[in-house]
Amino acid sequence: MTKRQPDRNLALDLARVTEAAALASARWLGLGQKEDGDGAAVDAMRISFNAMDINGRVVIGEGEKDEAPMLYNGEHVGTGVGPRMDIAVDPVEGTRLLANGRANAISVVAMTPKGCMYDPGPAYYMNKLVVPPEAVGMVDIDEPVERTLRKVAQAINKEVKDLVVFVLDKDRHEQLIADIRAAGARIQLHTDGDVAGALMAVIPDTGIDVMMGTGGTPEGVLAAVAIRVLGGEMQGKLNPQSELERDRVHGAGRDINEVLKMEDLVSSDDIFFAATGITDGVFLKGVDYTGKGANTTSLVMRGLTGTVRNIESNHRFDKLMRISTIDYD
Ligand code: FBP
Repeated sequence: MTKRQPDRNLALDLARVTEAAALASARWLGLGQKEDGDGAAVDAMRISFNAMDINGRVVIGEGEKDEAPMLYNGEHVGTGVGPRMDIAVDPVEGTRLLANGRANAISVVAMTPKGCMYDPGPAYYMNKLVVPPEAVGMVDIDEPVERTLRKVAQAINKEVKDLVVFVLDKDRHEQLIADIRAAGARIQLHTDGDVAGALMAVIPDTGIDVMMGTGGTPEGVLAAVAIRVLGGEMQGKLNPQSELERDRVHGAGRDINEVLKMEDLVSSDDIFFAATGITDGVFLKGVDYTGKGANTTSLVMRGLTGTVRNIESNHRFDKLMRISTIDYD
């Protein structure tokens, strides 16, 4: 690779985008109003995006144009000046977590050069396997759960009984949960938030060793960007959860037997990722309102350099509200 002078790290700009969304939405913590929390995050995220010098296109957004007034799939964001980028957003990943004041709601954005991000199309659900860097190249999502867990345990010098697997607490996972228990591993069941689950499987010392099971396809692609930077592995298989979804996925020419590997999900190293905690979680603290402002914690990554930053920011509402069009106070 040719050497070059340090250039702009767009992930640092992305951190401002997820910070804004987290700050705007955390006011809805525990208020039971899923849509309002999400709406506040979307508004804030969009305003912040449009300050960025990129020619961005939302590949993974809040849905189709007719259903989502902002950050819809295909929407252009940024000033239009700068690199052409594909963008995945989840202004509030874990809307129910936020509405119920539960752990692990985060605001998250990923960005790749144009054409380097898997487009989920009509595929809402994907079965996912996420393993830490030590187990890269050793697992196969089509293999039995017991064999996969044995391989991961061996790779990270543990016994299967030491492992903790992150699984979404959904009826569809009854068999998966039984298989993990039969293999002898332990389980953390979470109602929502499998982007956080995927990150925890790859980041050391989070108490999670593996993530398994079916969640959103968009969430899978978002997490894959971070996993590529962090050096872990995700494998995915589209897993439609209704006849309608199955028909649409087939109609779009997608093969539900195909194993999507890292290169299929994200095909460049020139990638950027940012996440800011909304509610408290294991690897990201939630927004902490101080009376005069708020503190946020973000995780910011750049693929080309592999730099991962933990950014703690102090926001002062007395100053911010003099210039900001976003209502944080
Ligand atoms: P939202 O933020 O859109 O509510 O998604 C939360 C989430 O739990 C994701 O983390 C996960 O991938 C997906 O929903 C699972 O979908 P479902 O709850 O329909 O099984």
